[in-house]
Amino acid sequence: MNVEKIKENDLIFLILDNRRKWLLQVKSGDSFHTHKGIIEFDDIIGKSFGTCVFSKPYETLGYKFYVLKPLPSDYVVHMSRKTQIIYPEDAGLILMYTGIGPGSIVVEAGCGSGALTCILGNYVRPHGHVFSYDINEKSLKRAKKNVLRANLNDVITIQYGDILENNLEHDNVDSVVLDMAQPWKAIKKIKNYLKFSGTIASFSPTIEQVKKTTFALIKNDFFEIDSYELFKRKLQVRENATRPEIRMIGHTGYMTFGRKIKNLKNPYREKKHEVPKEFVDLNGMPLRE
Ligand SMILES: C[S@@+](CC[C@H](N)C(=O)[O-])C[C@H]1O[C@@H](n2cnc3c(N)ncnc32)[C@H](O)[C@@H]1O
Repeated sequence: MNVEKIKENDLIFLILDNRRKWLLQVKSGDSFHTHKGIIEFDDIIGKSFGTCVFSKPYETLGYKFYVLKPLPSDYVVHMSRKTQIIYPEDAGLILMYTGIGPGSIVVEAGCGSGALTCILGNYVRPHGHVFSYDINEKSLKRAKKNVLRANLNDVITIQYGDILENNLEHDNVDSVVLDMAQPWKAIKKIKNYLKFSGTIASFSPTIEQVKKTTFALIKNDFFEIDSYELFKRKLQVRENATRPEIRMIGHTGYMTFGRKIKNLKNPYREKKHEVPKEFVDLNGMPLRE
């Protein structure tokens, strides 16, 4: 059996209890200080993932900490962040509906803290690549740091780039993933980067953004355009009290997907392509002044 040993610079997921969990990079000679004692990384290096360590000083503290190999979902929730990040369940749907996987070439904007970037990088390995752009220098710096910590720098390139203004010189990419304020403005440009049958995913927190992005996708001849929202409800499992937890995150964002097609005119039955008008007839609705 191949047991994976923890090496210098590996990321570990250190767990004290349900509330106290940390994503840490292991450095020999270094330690991690908690209010329940000190964890020496030299006590972890060379052990296998899934082990336990005890905090020093053993005599007065000696708390048990669990050492796990981080999952993509752990990166997202526990990595250093300042911008709104994508949650694991939403990232899961993005992977499913874009088909991003080993070998995929992906363009992403903006990278924000790099949470989604790391998930995408994790899935395109070993031969794919994620080219991720942002216009904010602080975001670029933080995302680069997070990508380095996740040991994904060989499959991810983070660089300055305005997806609305710059020509980013990509061609034939498998997918474009957008998480930015005005995704609809980017649709025309990114269409040129995608291969035919390539996919786009756009994550937006508001319905207004979803509408504008959907209409831009229709106008630019994308196909299979759909938007979704996911709700994840955690269960509390207790003897005689198993039920959903009382608190939950009520809203993360909406995801809009589409696919680039070569829209040939049908010489036999061509219909006129109509963009739906942004108009809702509210006649008869009980509206307040
Ligand atoms: C909500 S954050 C992205 C969060 C990211 N998905 C994550 O998981 O950490 C949105 C980012 O889009 C960037 N952005 C906004 N307009 C942009 C543009 N035109 N080109 C590239 N990035 C842009 C912002 O600077 C910001 O960092």
